[in-house]
Amino acid sequence: MDVFEGKVWISNKGLTETSVGVENGKIQAVKKNLKGEQKIKFEGIMLPSALDMHVHFRDPGYPHKEDWKSGSESAACGGVTAVVDMPNTNPFTSDVSTFNKKESIASSRSIVDFGIGVNVEEGLTNEEWFDTIPSAFWKLYPYGISSEQYFSNAREVLGKTKKPLVIHCEHPDHMHNEPLNELADHTKNRHNAESECLSSMPSSPNLHVAHLSTKEGLNNMPSLATSEVCPHHLLLNLDNCHSLDCKVDPPLRTHNDNHTLYNAFRDGRIPILASDHAPHTISEKRSDNPPSGLPGVETMIPLMLNEVSEGRLEMQRLVNAMSESPASRLGLDRGRISEGLTADFMIVDMKNSKPIDLDCLHSKANWTPFENWSAIFPSKVYRRGELIADDGEITSKSKGHNLFS
Ligand code: DOR
Ligand code: ZN
Repeated sequence: MDVFEGKVWISNKGLTETSVGVENGKIQAVKKNLKGEQKIKFEGIMLPSALDMHVHFRDPGYPHKEDWKSGSESAACGGVTAVVDMPNTNPFTSDVSTFNKKESIASSRSIVDFGIGVNVEEGLTNEEWFDTIPSAFWKLYPYGISSEQYFSNAREVLGKTKKPLVIHCEHPDHMHNEPLNELADHTKNRHNAESECLSSMPSSPNLHVAHLSTKEGLNNMPSLATSEVCPHHLLLNLDNCHSLDCKVDPPLRTHNDNHTLYNAFRDGRIPILASDHAPHTISEKRSDNPPSGLPGVETMIPLMLNEVSEGRLEMQRLVNAMSESPASRLGLDRGRISEGLTADFMIVDMKNSKPIDLDCLHSKANWTPFENWSAIFPSKVYRRGELIADDGEITSKSKGHNLFS
């Protein structure tokens, strides 16, 4: 057994001077004194690593933007040891054969554990595999679909599913891709898209609203649904970010929206933090018709740890939002440093705040809207008890697996 000794984040208790015994990928014991073959006395603090339930690793289909190797290495170096990949790859993940293909690619290339989201298409609930496919959740998009069909698909799935239905919540009637002169045009075109979408959504405990971005959206959340927010909708707005590179769906909004969403995130009304890591190359972003999307899986936790160190967020809330809540939302017994759970954790020096340096990131996107922002990267990241990232370097060749099979 490996025994880690130092200050450990224990749920409902906070930082505790203790020992964590790890064997066979599991936390065998958390106790003041433990005996083991190997003692690892760490500096800094041990926190649960993160589960990012919203990434686009682009594989299969767009390996020049990202693939499971580069995406998962980016995740690992940012303190994320499990991800859920969205279905808008090429081909879309929308049936057993496309699912199996993605699962096999991810199993052979991903360094982090993973889940796979399956796209909602008309008639999904009649498929004989609907109940059995080992997906993390169903995902519904508003692109290229009538609003009648979009809401009817949502009602159909919510009526029958046992898994979360994750919705990209912008009303289909607002999703025209018009030419943009400036970033603010994108925001203007989509002004009411989120609140109109949410006010027509049925309320269900199985409904999960991806990337909340507006005050009006927050105020129109169906009462039983859960939600997530991304760092870019908490920290970026049209005043501090002007570049068209920052075109993203849903769009960046105002400082006031940041403020309202951040307060709701702080008090847990928005329970989950997710990155919506959506990499595109810089030349695609600088083209005449730039695609929407920002990379973010590697910078999400470091930016938010910096928020904690500067006193704008409680550590307890961050750990809950990045680890405990996404795990419990997806029905996984993990996300805490506790006896019997998976040994997914990271070591962090909360004094080690540094400007984000593009050269140190691992995504093929090779840019970030947060360049030079202060951030605290984890020094060591462990997935199932194995050191997979050490000061931004990948240290393991072993692979992740599907958490839902
Ligand atoms: O900005 C976005 N980009 N929003 C999405 O929902 C999709 C994503 C992508 O896949 O690029
Ligand atoms: Zn997305």
